[in-house]
Amino acid sequence: MAVRDLDEVIEIEGCAAESTWTKGNFADSLNAGYWAYCLRRLAEDDDQSDELIAYCVLMPTIDELELLNITVHPSYRNKGYAQKILSIMDDVALSRSMQSIFLEVRVSNQPAISLYKKFGYEEFALRKDYYQKKALLVVEFLTELLLHRVMENNQPQQKHSKRKMK
Ligand SMILES: CC(C)(COP(=O)(O)OP(=O)(O)OC[C@H]1O[C@@H](n2cnc3c(N)ncnc32)[C@H](O)[C@@H]1OP(=O)(O)O)[C@@H](O)C(=O)NCCC(=O)NCCS
Repeated sequence: MAVRDLDEVIEIEGCAAESTWTKGNFADSLNAGYWAYCLRRLAEDDDQSDELIAYCVLMPTIDELELLNITVHPSYRNKGYAQKILSIMDDVALSRSMQSIFLEVRVSNQPAISLYKKFGYEEFALRKDYYQKKALLVVEFLTELLLHRVMENNQPQQKHSKRKMK
């Protein structure tokens, strides 16, 4: 993600009922050096632009990764894009020997909670004042994932039998 992406990003962000991010929040994240990525669909013709499908913002620390934002364009939901992003996050975090990935999600955001649980994230704590709403802190422990990968001969999609890409 770069500053030139932000008009499109904020357009999708505005469609997400659970969203709280402004263009300034994205710009601040880029300035702070957080990891921010856009997933685009390559245009079939040269005169068309590559459509923005999803984006995410991650804050790395020495041994943890915090997922600050993950959003999929409403027209592309339930097609496995968020799971693909979570899967890439696992790979990146493991390649840097990180211990865990965590995030906060509003208790009212059932689609997201279902997604994280399906992916193996566990509830860790309940926070009562997250943008004036209750939120769950959920975490994925990567040592467990690493063990599964070793045991399953490096086939990451098989860690959680519930994980399925559409
Ligand atoms: C949450 C979000 C990122 C999911 O993206 P997605 O690309 O649609 O998700 P995927 O297709 O990769 O994964 C599908 C899984 O997510 C969960 N899920 C997605 N939409 C759901 C819905 N409407 N109701 C219940 N579960 C849902 C389910 O676990 C589903 O698996 P299933 O089909 O086996 O039940 C997307 O809905 C979104 O962008 N929401 C707005 C922004 C947001 O809330 N971000 C999370 C903030 S913490």
